[in-house]
Amino acid sequence: MDAKELNEVIARAVVAQATWRSLTAGERAARLQAWQSKMIEHTDALAEVVTLEQGKPINEARGEAVYAAGFIEWFAQEARRAYGDTIPSHRSDIRLSTIKQPIGVVAAITPWNFPLAMIARKAGAALAAGCACIVKPAEQTPLSAVALQRLALEVGIPGDILPIATGDAVELGSVLTNDDRVRKISFTGSTEVGGLIYAQSAPTLKKLSLELGGNAPFIVFSDADIDRALDAAMFAKFRNAGQTCVCANRFFVQAEIYDEFSKKLARRVEQLVVGDGIREEVQIGPLIDQAAFSNVASKVNEAVAEGAQILTGGGPHACGGLFFQPTVVVDAPASSRLAREEIFGPVAALVKFSEEEEVVDMANASEFGLASYILTENIRRAVRVSEALECGMVGINTGAISTEVAPFGGIKHSGLGREGGWQGLDEYLEVKMIATGI
Ligand code: SIN
Repeated sequence: MDAKELNEVIARAVVAQATWRSLTAGERAARLQAWQSKMIEHTDALAEVVTLEQGKPINEARGEAVYAAGFIEWFAQEARRAYGDTIPSHRSDIRLSTIKQPIGVVAAITPWNFPLAMIARKAGAALAAGCACIVKPAEQTPLSAVALQRLALEVGIPGDILPIATGDAVELGSVLTNDDRVRKISFTGSTEVGGLIYAQSAPTLKKLSLELGGNAPFIVFSDADIDRALDAAMFAKFRNAGQTCVCANRFFVQAEIYDEFSKKLARRVEQLVVGDGIREEVQIGPLIDQAAFSNVASKVNEAVAEGAQILTGGGPHACGGLFFQPTVVVDAPASSRLAREEIFGPVAALVKFSEEEEVVDMANASEFGLASYILTENIRRAVRVSEALECGMVGINTGAISTEVAPFGGIKHSGLGREGGWQGLDEYLEVKMIATGI
């Protein structure tokens, strides 16, 4: 699609939205619920598309299809709860209330790492609220978006309410950000691009949701249950070959258990099955493209040159191409890019710490603030540290924090707004106050 075609899509979305918003919440909910059922019915087909175009293992892709369907179901249910307020008035001759109304035509600019779920998380909320949602999927994963839309069309969600705009990100992004008819943009992707969208959207004063980069600390205290900490680490680090925004990125392990934890982690990581994701037994697929591969490889190589030690992995996998070995690195210098920056690959870099206050400072010494993980059996410490960490989400003794029923999002350079939970619907609604003289 080019800019001219996208302009026509926006024009049709404006017209279609006027009808869509006039449906009752229950009518919109019924269509969304039917879409969710179709997605569940076609889980295997959707998963195959995801694995073939994105590379994640088929089991994870099935999980993503179900996760995506969960957002549609959740927002179908939330559609009926977009309540307003009645407000005790400041005057006896005036009554005050609020209603919530759809923001209008919105755009969802979505990433390649969860090519179904990130669309569902945005479009589910938008459609439930009564908005039209133009989806601009990542250039690496357009087919997953088209597959989702096809199922939506089958249940009577009009194509002009959920159009898919495949094409050049800069060209189409510029149309979406500059067009006054698009009243909101929800973007998931890098902080760099998020900043551009923020700036480009300023002249038309759009509402924005930005789910951007992360640099999650994973803090293992010496009082942690080690097996549990290892389970959490494997999930939080190696899901999607380390290519999620909430991946554990900086492992801080307390000195007393540093050697034991790092050796046990390396043993588990060595057992991961790498290969073609379409094979059932595979747990780690390829990285998304050459730039991603080079980024991971150069960070590991630089850290080793600066004194880090490889416990397992460390370089290209024997499968060749874009496959990188699942890797555990210890003692990466604090100054190395591996210890400081988001890795976005299957590499766990461990750093030793001594005291609680010290590790909270280390964890917070990042411009990002998306997810954090704490592993401890001490409830007082868990509460203290979870409150002190600068981030939008904390996992205590778990690496699995993502769900449709709770708010997902970050602070600082990790973005604005929340997706999922009841908060996710509000992102697509405007509050209108009504003062009635009596
Ligand atoms: C992301 O990487 O942006 C999303 C991950 C998730 O939903 O768990």
